[in-house]
Amino acid sequence: MNEETMQSMWDDRYREQTAMWGSEPNRFLVEAVADLTPGTALDLGCGQGRNAIWLAGHGFTVTGFDLSPVAVEQATAAAVAAGVDVEFAAVDLTTWDPDGREWDLVVLAYVHVPEVMRRAVHAAAARAVAPGGRIVVIAHHLDNLGRGTTGPSNPDWLFTEDQLARDFAEFDIVRNEQVLRPTEHGDALDVVCVAVRR
Ligand SMILES: C[S@@+](CC[C@H](N)C(=O)[O-])C[C@H]1O[C@@H](n2cnc3c(N)ncnc32)[C@H](O)[C@@H]1O
Repeated sequence: MNEETMQSMWDDRYREQTAMWGSEPNRFLVEAVADLTPGTALDLGCGQGRNAIWLAGHGFTVTGFDLSPVAVEQATAAAVAAGVDVEFAAVDLTTWDPDGREWDLVVLAYVHVPEVMRRAVHAAAARAVAPGGRIVVIAHHLDNLGRGTTGPSNPDWLFTEDQLARDFAEFDIVRNEQVLRPTEHGDALDVVCVAVRR
């Protein structure tokens, strides 16, 4: 699937479901930032903005990027409704470069692209982390395949702890493990990776 097709697929999904992931932040993200003093945060593949808006409500200065202009529009409206300021923009992460811009916290929650693109997206995300800053990656685990919960059905799009350890080898990894996430269709298997830039 090329990026144009991906964008229209996500645009269509967001038009159909205006609260696709709900408004609550992801529980693993909340855990991963609990000890942080709020600074700047970048939410990559921010979707309808639930995590970006939660971070902004907790004192972070937040930027959110997503491939889908529909999601960006919905996230912008949700931030206004929540009374927080977030800079949202439509950005394709597969060709994005932070271009010297750095954030204290970079988040990737359930942003799945094929293996070769994943490595490029993660490399760009790593470059966007300020020295001493933190990256948090939360994703559907490869072992989630066939469990009947949500997430990609192509193994090439799913993540493992080993892949994440390789993608962030230049970082100090403080957490990298498979976790259970209860859903209405049963327990899903996610992977959570938290790493600090040296
Ligand atoms: C499963 S949703 C997760 C949204 C959000 N992170 C959350 O947890 O609520 C995945 C998001 O990644 C975005 N995405 C997929 N490919 C992307 C790309 N190449 N560049 C930017 N965003 C992308 C999609 O548009 C979608 O909003």
